[in-house]
Amino acid sequence: MKVLGIETSCDETGIAIYDSEQGLLGDGLYSQIEIHAKYGGVIPELASRDHIRKTIPLINQVLTESNLTRLDLDAVAYTAGPGLVGALLVGASIGRSLAMGLEIPAIGVHHMEGHLLAPMLEPDPPDFPFVALLVSGGHTQLVKVEGIGRYELLGESLDDAAGEAFDKVGKMLGLPYPGGPQVARLALKGVANVFEFPRPMVNRPGLDFSFSGLKTSVRNKIQKELINGKLDPQTAADIARGFEDAVVSTLAIKCKRALEFTGLSTLIIAGGVSANLQLRKVLEAAVLETQSRLYYAQPKYCTDNGAMIAYAGAMRLIAGERTDLEIEVRPRWSLESLSTI
Ligand code: KG4
Ligand code: ZN
Repeated sequence: MKVLGIETSCDETGIAIYDSEQGLLGDGLYSQIEIHAKYGGVIPELASRDHIRKTIPLINQVLTESNLTRLDLDAVAYTAGPGLVGALLVGASIGRSLAMGLEIPAIGVHHMEGHLLAPMLEPDPPDFPFVALLVSGGHTQLVKVEGIGRYELLGESLDDAAGEAFDKVGKMLGLPYPGGPQVARLALKGVANVFEFPRPMVNRPGLDFSFSGLKTSVRNKIQKELINGKLDPQTAADIARGFEDAVVSTLAIKCKRALEFTGLSTLIIAGGVSANLQLRKVLEAAVLETQSRLYYAQPKYCTDNGAMIAYAGAMRLIAGERTDLEIEVRPRWSLESLSTI
C-alpha cells in the first residue's frame, strides 16, 4: 500500500510517500522558518497561507522525484491534530479532497503518534513495548507504549514544553528563531558547570515535568551577567551550556525513573528536541546503566516531517481504519484517546 503523507500542523510543510512493502519512497520538506523568524515565533495566519501555497507543489515534486503519479497512490494520510487549526485545515482539506478525487481512502493522523512512530522508519526499529519520551515544541510527555494506539501517559510538562523552553532561552540570548538548534550550537562552545541551573521537579516523586522555573532562572542569570546591556559571548555560551545540561539531565532522570516504574527496557525518544546530540549522549549513558536500549529517528525525522505521518497513517489504514468525507481537525487531541489497532 502506497500512502501519501501530508504534515501541515505548524511551520513545516512535509510530504512523503510510504510503501508498506518497500518502505519510504520519497519525501520533501518546506520549512517556513524564514517567514516567522522576523517575528521571533510562529504567526498562525502566515503559516496557514504558506501551507496553501506550498502543499500541492510539494506533493507534485515528491511524486515526480519518486517516479510516481497520483494514480499510483493507494491512500492519503494527513495530520488532523494537535496543532494550529488553520494550518491543520490546509493539509486536511487538500488530503481529504485528493483522496475523494482519486477514490482512495484517507485517514487523519495524530501528530504526536506520528512522532512516536518515527523511529520505526529506521533500519533497526524498536519492538513494543517501550517507554517513549516525546519532546517537541508543544509537548513533553513520557508514554508507556504497548502497541499502536495502546498509550498510557506516565507524565507530562505542567507548563512549558522542552522545545518551547529552548526557544524562549534562545530568544533571551538574542538567537534567531527557532532557538532549539541555535542554543544547542552555542552550548557546544560553552563550558559545563560554569552556570548551574536547577533540575526542576527531580526531587519530587512522579514523572511530570516543569520548565518554566528553569526559564526564569536563566532570565535572572542573563540580567545579572549583562555588562553595559550586553552579554559577553563566552558567558552566553556558558549559559546555553548550563541550560541545556539542566534540561537534558532532568529528562534523563525522568526517563530512568519511567523505565524502572514500568519495568521496561526499551526507551525511544521522538519530536524535535530528540535531535539534540547532548540529549542522545546522556540518554545513551543512562540506558547502559539500566541495561536498556535507546532508539531514535535520524534528525530529519525528529522534527516535523511527512514521513512519520505517512507511516502512522499506513499502519492504521492497513488495520482497516478510515476517515469519512467530513473534514475534521482537532487542535487539541489526547494521545490516550486514540483507538487501539
Ligand atoms: O517536533 P517539532 O519539529 O515540532 C513540534 O511538534 O513542536 O519540534 C520543534 C521543537 C522546537 O522547539 C525546536 O527548537 C526544537 O524542537 N529543536 C531542538 C533541536 N532541534 C529542534 N531543541 C534542542 N536541540 C535541538 N537540536
Ligand atoms: Zn511536531
